[in-house]
Amino acid sequence: MRLFIPFRHAGLMALPLLAASCTADQLPEEERVIAPILTSAQAIDEFTYARPAEARVTHVALDLDLDFEARRVEGTATLDVQAAQGAREVVLDSNGLVIGGVTDGQGNDLQFTIGAADPGNAEKGEPITIQLGQSTGPDLQQVVIAYASAPEAEALQWLDPEQTAGGRYPFVFSQGQAILNRSWIPTQDSPGIRQTWEARITAPEPLTVVMSGISRGDPEELENGRRAFEFTMDNSVPPYLIALAAGNIEFAEVGARSGVWAEPEMLAAAAEEVGDTEELIDAGIGLFGEYRWGRYDMIVLPPSFPYGGMENPTLTFLTPTFIAGDRSNNGLVAHELAHSWSGNLVTYSSWRDGWLNEGVTSYIENRIVEQVYGEDRAEQEYALSFASLEDMVETNGADSPLTAMRTPDGTSPFDTAGEAIYDKGTAFLKTVEATVGREAFDEWLTNWFDSHAFQPATSEMFLASLREDLVAGDAELEERLMLDEWVYGTGIPDNVVRPDAAAFAEVDAAVTAYAASKALPQATTWRGWTAAEQRRFLAELPERLSADDLAALDRALSLSRSGNNEILFLWLEAALRNEYEPAVPQAREFLARVGRNKFVAPLFQALWDTGEWGQRIATGIYDDTRAGYHSMTRGNVDGIVGYEAGGEAASVN
Ligand code: BES
Ligand code: ZN
Repeated sequence: MRLFIPFRHAGLMALPLLAASCTADQLPEEERVIAPILTSAQAIDEFTYARPAEARVTHVALDLDLDFEARRVEGTATLDVQAAQGAREVVLDSNGLVIGGVTDGQGNDLQFTIGAADPGNAEKGEPITIQLGQSTGPDLQQVVIAYASAPEAEALQWLDPEQTAGGRYPFVFSQGQAILNRSWIPTQDSPGIRQTWEARITAPEPLTVVMSGISRGDPEELENGRRAFEFTMDNSVPPYLIALAAGNIEFAEVGARSGVWAEPEMLAAAAEEVGDTEELIDAGIGLFGEYRWGRYDMIVLPPSFPYGGMENPTLTFLTPTFIAGDRSNNGLVAHELAHSWSGNLVTYSSWRDGWLNEGVTSYIENRIVEQVYGEDRAEQEYALSFASLEDMVETNGADSPLTAMRTPDGTSPFDTAGEAIYDKGTAFLKTVEATVGREAFDEWLTNWFDSHAFQPATSEMFLASLREDLVAGDAELEERLMLDEWVYGTGIPDNVVRPDAAAFAEVDAAVTAYAASKALPQATTWRGWTAAEQRRFLAELPERLSADDLAALDRALSLSRSGNNEILFLWLEAALRNEYEPAVPQAREFLARVGRNKFVAPLFQALWDTGEWGQRIATGIYDDTRAGYHSMTRGNVDGIVGYEAGGEAASVN
């Protein structure tokens, strides 16, 4: 194998690495490395107003108060800005920020304007253009922005006490990915513009603040009944990874490097569920090299958290719905942990390269699961993933741009089918692994992470590196790999390495028997199956089932009593799409209790697709549950049920 040197690939240009001076508490100057801004065509992020080649943010220092009454953060952001020779202004991203004023490091006012929002793309927010001071670059300048977030800031969800497990204290959490952090942090909100950061956040007692960085120690007690919490992130990260949560939360240690935060009511169950975390971390390190973030803590959030998990560095955010009592949904922890290499260490520069973060991560997740839970479980999880990929391709057609891994021009990266990114990405890397051999592939992937650590990347770079180091001029191997077809093409390339059919042999036989004669698995057989096997059976049920069929299924397999929300979800989806009235109360309860978009949106869709029967039910449920959902989940369900602002959910008839 040859040496790996970053940024030597033909056709790619990087701006020079510039040394920066530093602020107090930060790494000394010689240790702070400013990641390059990639300027290749593929690296351009169309969802930022920033012009980093002229002036770029290298460090963010936040000093903010959490105001639960007004539902906003308020304070200052001090940005270190590296300006090119002659640069006169720096452009930041905002989404609804209320700016009080901008000064330089010495307290002199700086002129600024807030530009108009891009009419074609409201979610992009609006640019803040700040006139820089007198100095002639390239050098470092400070810009201090006094601001507050808007109450409807999309990155922040402010929860009433009733929306928490304890019911007594409010809660807030942020979700930055993809382009939401600009609604609470005025910075250059683009994944290719990496920044170090620090923060001081105050909150009323007894709330505790946690962030996606290392805590600087015990909070400072203030005189006004508040406490100040301080954090530092010395690794430069894409700004979507700056994250915060605050509530009545407590910590339980899991291992030497890991622990979990949750409301006290949830803490024991949370700690039990993530009990394998140290082994997962060790597996990741063994496979792909050093864990570079110090701690790996997690927080189990209230149920309105819209995702399964979010890989905020040093502090993964998790949905409480993954808790099943048996660690069967721990692929989620393996997944978020895997982002410590793919996504957080090496990050796509453009949202169009979603697979570079999520596909590579899903592949690593599977490798970690294999290491910790064994080959059978890993193969079953790959088989579930591959089946979703095949379904998605069948639904959209093999030539649909929605099935491409790198989002083609003319398609929004935020509309790309998740399966094209996660599941096709996994299948791609499984295929490369099988073609070049596991040992060579692991060595290459480890080197990819090492040589691009804390730097942005593109599909083009990934492929160039694969070619240079693994294909190495072997024309026959190049042909067998079909690299471009995988990354840029649609559908599933025919060299794909499929999951072993034996992974689900027993379940698939049961599925066939059920489809042929409605023969049900024995209750003992069902209980002996892994969660993945149970999911496979439910996912492969016939589309159309009668009320008698559904009643018999539930009676035999106790589906509606499952303690695993993945199983419960599949049961409810099958029931609702078949207008099974007895499941409606439980669906109502589930949709009020769970805010995870992956569960909520498909259940509303299943109801809606039945026509009048389900639309009436969906409208009724949504009237009660909408206010509790996160803006992301709400946005999706609004689209399904035709909800219009100011009106009711679309009425039926
Ligand atoms: N980074 C994602 C969540 C995300 C993706 C947020 C895109 C915003 C935009 C996270 O790592 C993720 O993939 N979560 C999955 C986990 C699953 C694949 C195990 C989820 O939430 O379901
Ligand atoms: Zn992910």
